[in-house]
Amino acid sequence: MTLPSIDAHTRRGYLKRLVAVGGTAALAACVELSPGDEAVPTGDPTNRPASQHAWNDVLRSDADGNLLAPEHHILLPLELEGEPDERSREQVEQTFRSLERAYEFSPDGVLFTVNYSPAYFEAIGESPPIPRPEPLTSIEGNIDLDDADVLIHLASDSPQVVLEAEEALLGNEPEPNGVEMEAALTDIFAPGDPRRTGFVGEGLPVEMAREEGIDLPEELHEDAPFLMGFRSGFAEAQAPESRVTIDDGPYEGGSTMHIESLELNLRQWFEQDDHFLRVAQMFSPEHAQEELVGEIGERLDQSTGVFGDIADRTADDARTEGLVGHAQKAARARDEDGTPPLLRRDFNTLDGGSAGVHFLSHQRTIADFVRVREAMAGEDLSLGRRLNNGILQYIFVRSRGNYLTPPRSLRALPTESA
Ligand code: HEM
Repeated sequence: MTLPSIDAHTRRGYLKRLVAVGGTAALAACVELSPGDEAVPTGDPTNRPASQHAWNDVLRSDADGNLLAPEHHILLPLELEGEPDERSREQVEQTFRSLERAYEFSPDGVLFTVNYSPAYFEAIGESPPIPRPEPLTSIEGNIDLDDADVLIHLASDSPQVVLEAEEALLGNEPEPNGVEMEAALTDIFAPGDPRRTGFVGEGLPVEMAREEGIDLPEELHEDAPFLMGFRSGFAEAQAPESRVTIDDGPYEGGSTMHIESLELNLRQWFEQDDHFLRVAQMFSPEHAQEELVGEIGERLDQSTGVFGDIADRTADDARTEGLVGHAQKAARARDEDGTPPLLRRDFNTLDGGSAGVHFLSHQRTIADFVRVREAMAGEDLSLGRRLNNGILQYIFVRSRGNYLTPPRSLRALPTESA
């Protein structure tokens, strides 16, 4: 892939774009541009949580106390080459430990999870502990279904770190952050398809789109953390890590991961409707009428307040207002005691030159995801399947993938028979 030209771009923005480009040339360009940048802290593999998805303790918070995802993300697919055995298991574990030595367990270093698809379990002759992905709603049509064996989710606040970590795993960077890799995934896995990337953070959607030369509607606020313009991930609407952790069986301590890749029609979202309608469709009609949200969600602190009355009113709103909000609808699928079942770690993407979201979530079972996604689809409501039905008119599902996120102790080529 050709590297973007630097002349037209700021150095900072250019570095961030390189994550989407990927590969050793992008990494070399990154290193050349940031020699002597602030030192990245190294890490200690002996001091990590038992659950791979347990990131919350090290994430930063915003001023309201909501956890902030790391800014830069890569979803690296891998295909298994040959049959796993004890030697390959050891090599894979050594690779992950080397990476953990190279980088602190934090957004300043790198956070990662290693996730296994149903195809992996079938390849090793075991019955998959998670279902194969399938379209979940009647409007999805012909979507792609992830079929790589493994998907590694890498995340960091530093574009260089996330790129370098990827290259280190693939055996193309022997000394990430100056620390020697004792092994790499080479010969056990080959890079798969599609590699996906993205970002999240205040101001990043506008900044990254500018860098990419992608024309976004002017209505998208400069400070918006997400491409559709609103803050997301309020603490009260996120599952606690314990709620998404598998609590018995061979993968106890693990989780499941679903990735729904979506394309966005931002022109229609921003130009067809006004702010009032955008708030109503994203949150609820009441949020729009009572002006509860503000420009990008700054009036909300740790909760949208949809759970309870507003979620319970969804079917009535469909009948009387002819419109319901996305958050209102999705909150109908919370547990009876009000606990949200999904831990959302979704991020924006400009992969392929168009605006989208890689909606990544952890949950205890894929059935939990399906339950929430069906509530979001709102096919039970007296509304059209897309129009005025939350944000469904503006989002287009392109692919889905289901994965097991084993506990850290089983992250290297897991098998029930080990
Ligand atoms: C373009 C894609 C999407 C955007 C921009 C988006 C945005 C938002 C926003 C702004 C909120 C309200 C703030 C918050 O509670 O964090 C929200 C809530 C939520 N969204 Fe989405 N979302 C998207 C896709 C999805 C998908 C695919 C799901 C999967 C089921 C989903 C599930 C949820 C859930 C569970 C909530 C919280 C509801 C509750 O309060 O219990 N979202 N989303």
